[in-house]
Amino acid sequence: MNTQVIQISDPILQKSDLSRAAEIIRAGGLVAFPTETVYGLGGDGTDDSAAKKIYAAKGRPSDNPLIIHVAAPEDADRYAVVNATYRRLAKAFMPGPLTVILQKREIVPKSVTGGLDTVAVRCPSHPVAHALIALAGVPIAAPSANLSGKPSPTCAAHVIADLSGRVDMILDGGDCEIGLESTIVKVDGEDEITLLRPGGITYDALCMVVSKVNIAPAVTHALAQNEHPLSPGMKYRHYAPNIPVVLLSGESKKVTAFLANEQKTKKCALLCYEEELPFLRADRLFPVGKRDDLAAQAQTLFRLLREADRTDAEIIYAHLPPETGLGLALYNRMIRAAAHTIKEV
Ligand code: TXA
Ligand code: MG
Repeated sequence: MNTQVIQISDPILQKSDLSRAAEIIRAGGLVAFPTETVYGLGGDGTDDSAAKKIYAAKGRPSDNPLIIHVAAPEDADRYAVVNATYRRLAKAFMPGPLTVILQKREIVPKSVTGGLDTVAVRCPSHPVAHALIALAGVPIAAPSANLSGKPSPTCAAHVIADLSGRVDMILDGGDCEIGLESTIVKVDGEDEITLLRPGGITYDALCMVVSKVNIAPAVTHALAQNEHPLSPGMKYRHYAPNIPVVLLSGESKKVTAFLANEQKTKKCALLCYEEELPFLRADRLFPVGKRDDLAAQAQTLFRLLREADRTDAEIIYAHLPPETGLGLALYNRMIRAAAHTIKEV
């Protein structure tokens, strides 16, 4: 398949390009597009065969359900059974990086939901994503636009590397602002939700809107053998570079000293803080941002994991993020990348 790559800098001026992309979606084809979180691999969310194409293009197991993307929060009602809790979440956080799991309606094929009776709904705020969904006139089912097992793509170059020749079109809208996938919550009842995947909307922000916010154990811990995951995606190995990743925890000076010492004896790639640069040798060094700048770290993490994985390092070291604020989302992705390997120094 020949994949067209189109740069979109202005969705209003480039309406004809976006209309062509929307036409591909309506005709059952696949278009990768930017969102504020990561790039998505989109197809018609009401079309069984488009869903099958998405799974094939990603090399993804078909029991791992897709998120459907809508142009306006109210549109969720057409595809899912919404309630007051959804409306409150939507009012507070949509359009934006929040995905809500609700009971699905008949119109959403089971291939989209991996056989489940629930469906994940998200209304992205990125202007290109919004324009594409609105022009398509159908909800867009989209997982992250990476090959299964790779870090989610945060720029078009990552999508091209993973999916060129596997999709009809890639819309290049530049770097994603947040850099980590959306926060996913499941509505359990009136005024109660469970956080399944932390993201740009933090636990604390959710607590301002919903009285009871549970955190699924798999957010911070490895699933026990035979444990049933609340979200099918939790059971798959994610974001796993080929080079083993080890997370370091401990007093900051000690961690920096440990890294400097490891550089002397091992070929290691380091995802370090900017403040550490003067203390480290300059090879295979990937600064993630300042120690306290979690937003910068979120934005760069997946790109740096891809880059570190392309070096000749035998090991990748990174810091164990805090479990608070946006740190929880970083923590959740990092412990997966590291297959839960944490070293105390
Ligand atoms: O930011 C995002 O959410 C990006 C952009 C493209 O919107 N999308 C994304 O999709 O990250 P994906 O497919 O890579 O991750 C969706 C996760 C999967 O782990 C899946 O298991 C879970 O959402 N999920 C989807 N539908 C679900 C459902 N009905 N019940 C429980 N989990 C669900
Ligand atoms: Mg994904």
